[in-house]
Amino acid sequence: MRRKLVVGNWKMHGSLAQNKTLLTDCITKLAPLNNADYAVCVPFPYLQQAQSLLQNTNIAWGAQNIGKFATGAYTGEVSVGMLKDFDCQYTIIGHSERNTAYCESDENIAAKFMMAKNASITPILCVGETLIEREAGVMYHVVAKQIDTIIALHGATVFANAVISYEPIWAIGTGLAANPEQAQTMHEFIRNKISALDFAAANGLKILYGGSLNPQNALQLLVMPDIDGGLIGRCSLNANDFEGICSVAQSI
Ligand code: PGA
Repeated sequence: MRRKLVVGNWKMHGSLAQNKTLLTDCITKLAPLNNADYAVCVPFPYLQQAQSLLQNTNIAWGAQNIGKFATGAYTGEVSVGMLKDFDCQYTIIGHSERNTAYCESDENIAAKFMMAKNASITPILCVGETLIEREAGVMYHVVAKQIDTIIALHGATVFANAVISYEPIWAIGTGLAANPEQAQTMHEFIRNKISALDFAAANGLKILYGGSLNPQNALQLLVMPDIDGGLIGRCSLNANDFEGICSVAQSI
């Protein structure tokens, strides 16, 4: 069985003082939970703080985006090498909040995915459909297309030891999570798609669910066979809620 992984996505929240309280609480609460993996993806300016507080704990840290180039005249971008300087283990790639606001293309996302992989930082690739796409019944097509660009350019084997997070856009921050069957069906679809090309890569791939995951709905979602953990927005900003989800992951 794949080990569960719970990742907090802080988005554009936090301050040095708030982070210190939150991380210190999380360190204490998560310390006994050794049966799953945990991480927080923080805003870039707080990577050093995350590194200094979280090293030698069971909580890893990472970023929420990276630049698609290694170095150069790209004002405002942050390279994967810079993340390595702070020992990041993960980076989120292609979150829908970025894709909508900053017009990320599938090609850009594929380039960022490979940047992270080649630097041994685990990419957490976000995929998911809008409500209109779900109601039109084209969600599998939409999610397949988001993965296909990477497969076409780099093959399916690059998904070995990577993470995909299925995040239906209609569920993010709305309080309306996908139900366990909806999520499991999509996760199975994603795994089968990669499995048809590379069985071992699909087997090792962690597929997280994201979108209004909370301590109350965590068990019914995380118990599903193809749901390997969660990407948590709002509930990662509260140590009790984050612990609630992490202890469910740990108990399965
Ligand atoms: P949410 O966010 O848990 O607040 O819905 C999830 C995400 O966007 O990663």
